[in-house]
Amino acid sequence: MPEHQQDVGRPAYRAVIFDLDGVITDTAEFHYLGWQRLADEEGLAFDRATNEALRGRSRRESLLALLGDAAVDEDELERMMQAKNSYYVASLETMSPQDALPGAVDLVDDVRRRGLKVAIGSSSKNARMVLDKLELTGRFDAIADGHTVDDAKPAPDLFLAAAQLLDVAPSECVVVEDAASGVDAALAAGMTAVGIGPAERVGHAHHRFDAVDEVDLEAVLHA
Ligand code: BG6
Ligand code: MG
Repeated sequence: MPEHQQDVGRPAYRAVIFDLDGVITDTAEFHYLGWQRLADEEGLAFDRATNEALRGRSRRESLLALLGDAAVDEDELERMMQAKNSYYVASLETMSPQDALPGAVDLVDDVRRRGLKVAIGSSSKNARMVLDKLELTGRFDAIADGHTVDDAKPAPDLFLAAAQLLDVAPSECVVVEDAASGVDAALAAGMTAVGIGPAERVGHAHHRFDAVDEVDLEAVLHA
């Protein structure tokens, strides 16, 4: 670049915010199985394809989507949310550090080695329990979860809260997400989105990889 020209490119990244379920560990499958069991018990139509749209969404939003037009009062909603959560939590019983997805911990460590901060941005109220079981809680500089904000993904609030906890600007953050709603949230927050999964789900991210162990961090950070 000629000396008199100013570099007007984007600022260097200072942080990477990781979604948890479906990025760090395969709990997305357990969430699906929990909803499927509830749907079967309640006689509601539900399958894997319908579940794709629920990825990343809060427990309440997921249940409302599952119920569709069915009229259900608050007590019933609470009962169903508790039932699904009990199925989900039971499926975590045997979770251990071996249950991190291939490449996930290496990716977090690679980010840290480069001097960037790392955070979790998860819609889940069980995020800390999952991180504890994986023995990864201490690896993150900040954790924003289902208790942190009122408006869940696709609202930008959770990722903005994570950036605030890290004391970095949204434009300095990369988000790694497996959910369409999570990519929407990252884009709405003004962050760079890395989608994990098929193009039909996360093709609207800035970068997309089929799996976490395929993420080319060098390419993402220096694009
Ligand atoms: C997200 C999952 O991380 O957390 C969703 O992708 C889930 O499937 C949401 O519904 C809320 O989780 P929890 O543990 O609070 O019910
Ligand atoms: Mg996810």
